[in-house]
Amino acid sequence: MLKTQTDWPEPIIRVQSLSEGCKDSIPERYIKPPIDRPFVQNSCYDGINNIPIIDLGGLNGDDLDVRGSILKKISEACREWGFFQIVNHGVSHDLMDKARETWREFFHLPMEVKQQYANSPKTYEGYGSRLGIEKGAILDWSDYYFLHYSPFSLKDYNKWPSSPPSCREVFDEYGRELVKLCGRLMKVLSINLGLEEEKLKNAFGDEIGACMRINFYPKCPRPELTLGLSSHSDPGGMTMLLPDDQVAGLQVRKFHHWITVNPAPYAFIVNIGDQIQVLSNATYKSVEHRVIVNSDKERVSLAFFYNPKSDIPIEPLKDLLTPERPALYPPMTFDEYRLFIRMRGPCGKSQVESMKSPI
Ligand code: OGA
Ligand code: NI
Repeated sequence: MLKTQTDWPEPIIRVQSLSEGCKDSIPERYIKPPIDRPFVQNSCYDGINNIPIIDLGGLNGDDLDVRGSILKKISEACREWGFFQIVNHGVSHDLMDKARETWREFFHLPMEVKQQYANSPKTYEGYGSRLGIEKGAILDWSDYYFLHYSPFSLKDYNKWPSSPPSCREVFDEYGRELVKLCGRLMKVLSINLGLEEEKLKNAFGDEIGACMRINFYPKCPRPELTLGLSSHSDPGGMTMLLPDDQVAGLQVRKFHHWITVNPAPYAFIVNIGDQIQVLSNATYKSVEHRVIVNSDKERVSLAFFYNPKSDIPIEPLKDLLTPERPALYPPMTFDEYRLFIRMRGPCGKSQVESMKSPI
């Protein structure tokens, strides 16, 4: 079994400092093999150049036709894309702006302030610059901050930045709103899977896990050679991404194409993670995505991860199994599951694929 490690294999270099110091080249450690480099020409698939955008206004209203049509759009998006944007989701635009700008401010604090929160691979909480502990690995062009919102036992204000001063208050409110929004979507997914509306949420346990990764992608003088975040699927349940309002960068895989997401104003980008793939016995699939960087603009994004309670076994829901379609995955706790990406770093969908039980 994989064991957690308490320290990084090499000294940590902040990509933000590198970016400030290099004018027209990047260190070799960030240069991806040619097959993984971004390919701008390939970003349009059969004329489709964006993931679905779904208006949630009316989801909890009295008009059953409107509600039915929203459910149907979400169902199609989950099956065909595993990714969609939502607008009219009920989270205040002001809070979205405040959350993003507060974190942007954090990343612009002096390095010695940020360093006080330097993280380790033991819990990943705090200020980080790599995922995975393999010595000599090729790294991604980004820094991040990782923190827990729930369960209550893991919520530790001392691990959240004390500066900017509004940070803790803003993230508290943001976390509350996003847990609520994810709860609404979980009901929709449950109904769409043909289950009772609380079923999927109940499978996440009595206290869900929620954490956030704030990604900071500094400018990069050679964006064609590297990635801000390598291809991966999210290991958890569902992700709610607040993208940068100025700069695109997220790419979603559609067959062999990479579609660059064009964020709608004040939308959240929702995606299915591996745990929902497992619970739904692959009716819904997590989808690979990655991030490209650019030479003249930095980018900030907030990825909010809504996860199952971390110490209960997650396995395909019994109600979804038939003799023709038996369980594709063995039970595993999320704590155990997420050790893979924490040790090996992002590597496409290799983990959830390798978990399949032999049939
Ligand atoms: C992530 C992620 C995408 C982005 O943090 O898991 O996929 O656009 N982020 O930053
Ligand atoms: Ni992701």
